[in-house]
Amino acid sequence: MNSIVNKSISYFLIQLNHCRYRNIVSKCTTCSLVGLTFKNRCEKWMFRRSMSLLTECIVPELKAIEAAGTWKKERVIASPQRTRIVLTNGVEALNFCANNYLGLADNKEVISAAKFALDKYGAGLSSVRFICGTQEIHVELEEKIARFHGREAAILYASCLDANAGLFEALLTSEDAVFSDELNHASIIDGIRLCKAKRHRYKHRDMEDLENKLKDSMSSRLRLIATDGVFSMDGTVAPLSKILELAKKYNALTFVDDCHATGFFGKTGRGTEEYFDQLGSIDIINSTLGKALGGAAGGYTTGKKELIDLLRQRSRPYLFSNSLPPPVVASASKVLDLITDSTEYLNRLRSNTNLFRNTMKMAGFTIVGDDHPICPVMIGDARLASKFADKMIEQGVYVIGFSYPVVPRDKARIRVQISAAHSANDIERAANAFIHIGKEIGVIN
Ligand SMILES: Cc1ncc(COP(=O)(O)O)c(C=O)c1O
Repeated sequence: MNSIVNKSISYFLIQLNHCRYRNIVSKCTTCSLVGLTFKNRCEKWMFRRSMSLLTECIVPELKAIEAAGTWKKERVIASPQRTRIVLTNGVEALNFCANNYLGLADNKEVISAAKFALDKYGAGLSSVRFICGTQEIHVELEEKIARFHGREAAILYASCLDANAGLFEALLTSEDAVFSDELNHASIIDGIRLCKAKRHRYKHRDMEDLENKLKDSMSSRLRLIATDGVFSMDGTVAPLSKILELAKKYNALTFVDDCHATGFFGKTGRGTEEYFDQLGSIDIINSTLGKALGGAAGGYTTGKKELIDLLRQRSRPYLFSNSLPPPVVASASKVLDLITDSTEYLNRLRSNTNLFRNTMKMAGFTIVGDDHPICPVMIGDARLASKFADKMIEQGVYVIGFSYPVVPRDKARIRVQISAAHSANDIERAANAFIHIGKEIGVIN
């Protein structure tokens, strides 16, 4: 009886479109079938049907990701982010894959600044900045960031992804053109997609290609060249001097995402422009508070005052998303205090990077990248890279293998990231594990 009723209801509903069904259901409030109201039954049926449709669409997608070998597993950490982390199974590992470049994520002064702000300013603002989400510490941090970069002003976002999402659309119109390195970070690519400017993708770090594209777009109102300062998969640096030369020649603006440079790259940590001895020359810098600057969260844009004023009025991730929580603001602010006048942390990072790169090269490994704490150990084959990383973890060294489509086919690698908090002994332990496993599985002789 039950199944006949079910089948009849199903048949009846299939004949109706969604709106008509909703209409009938909303009027049918009294009739009841087999202990349940007709309305409830119909709604449950519709709910089950839409859920099974959802599953039908998603499951093949998930299987395809698994089959392609690109499924991302998440290892769960039971300790703060630092060089020695504890996993939930109690195993301690030496961490060589965080963006904790300056090792300040668990710094005591940073943590107490965050705790103090939590007590004084509360957990969060429950508001966007322009309604009632601006506290004095937000303004202070923006001023500190601008001073650190030697710029007129800065604006905070919930992340650098948001800063990238909010920049291009607010600044560029259909009369403008944007030139983007093909290997730029996904958030730059997405940000550019949101704007109406003509888009030109130039070959990775290929200045001839960039110049040709600039030549072809002389009629545009604004022309903006957009690049990562440091490309995080390779640890390579954008050819900034040449980019600036072309920008000058073709009257273009420059934008650099300096997430993998701010705070530690260049003589005093001012980033890619300082590395090239070109301080103050980039028009717009976006960066993150979620890597070297404490690692909590947050991002920003810094540049001319008029640009920052425009972003406060027009940038959608700024206008329509919550203010940064006070402890996050305070931790980044404390990190800027610690590094503005001192190169202690970045000097340690530099000597650790040299030690790792030199030891590995001497052992016969190929390490790519330009002098940067991102040290990709080239393995080639994807399965070998994954096996290598698993064996490293068995030896107590936490590293991750990267393979296609994140990096080109046959260029699988283990991306090692060095921190100022590593000791020389940590670096040697990691290098020894690489050498031992490298010999065992035939990556080196
Ligand atoms: C180059 C680059 N840009 C932007 C981001 C996004 O930064 P956030 O984590 O602050 O959103 C990242 C983070 O991985 C990055 O590497």
